[in-house]
Amino acid sequence: MKVLLATGKPFARQAVGEIAQIIESAGHRFEKLENYAGKSQLLEAVRDVNALIIRSDVIDREVMEAAPHLKVVVRAGAGYDNVDLECATSRDICVMNTPGQNANAVAELVFGMMIYMLRNQFDGTVGREISNKRLGLYAFGNVAKMVAKIARGFSMTVNAYSPTLTHDDLRKEGEYGVISVYSNSELFENSDFVSLHMPLLEETRHCVNYELLSRMPRDGVLINTARKELVVEEDLLQIMEERPRFQYITDVKPDRHEEFDSRFPKRYFTTPKKTGAQTTEANINAGLAAAEQIVSFFRNGDERFRVNNKL
Ligand code: 3PG
Repeated sequence: MKVLLATGKPFARQAVGEIAQIIESAGHRFEKLENYAGKSQLLEAVRDVNALIIRSDVIDREVMEAAPHLKVVVRAGAGYDNVDLECATSRDICVMNTPGQNANAVAELVFGMMIYMLRNQFDGTVGREISNKRLGLYAFGNVAKMVAKIARGFSMTVNAYSPTLTHDDLRKEGEYGVISVYSNSELFENSDFVSLHMPLLEETRHCVNYELLSRMPRDGVLINTARKELVVEEDLLQIMEERPRFQYITDVKPDRHEEFDSRFPKRYFTTPKKTGAQTTEANINAGLAAAEQIVSFFRNGDERFRVNNKL
């Protein structure tokens, strides 16, 4: 079988070497297409592949149609909103992710960005501390759990609300020491910082709107390491206009980046390129998991991490 690693944003060299080794020692052919310039290069590269390992690379109908032998796509990471799942199902392609493998890297970045911004981008002026403040986690998956763990080291109070878990389920996550709240309104009302951790789905698109944001303290901080589409950007711009101390910190550059940047340069920060999962450790964890999942898919039809429906 031919396995293509197609990553617009390349993995660490060590991760790529180890992925190749896993694939080749199972008797498959390995090829890579890293840092490609445009979709046409991807379309050309997928023509004879049976398996794909990707990151945020968009795998839509056009790509699948260009890859008639494709059987499995593994998104080395958590979110799979970049893959057309319906089309994959209709073509009998199995789509999987590697949940949890890059969670710690993303969680660490949450704190890195928080401290950078609370210390006024290290410009030497008087800043604030995060210790003993209230952190709200909106959704409670693998990244949120790691954030909760780290937050305890900073003596933060951690509130959590999940649209997919019941209040009691969340209360049972005792080892993370979070306070389970009953609604997203309660979460935003009772948190100095709110960190978003839900996947992008039709139900979560634009879920952070004016109504919710206005419940936060006037000097609240919204942190987004998840997806830009979760936030109604116009509403957030309005909140930042009305509240001169409100901050937005993000690893997913908003569509209206120029506007945020020019209007609120000291209260808005975005990484230039999504960087949460961009550590050697996370690349190795997610990349190797993806390679192993492909090997066992071809060996014995293992679809354990499948995320799309079956035909
Ligand atoms: C994920 O969904 O796993 C993260 O957003 C990381 O995405 P990336 O692999 O494109 O950096």
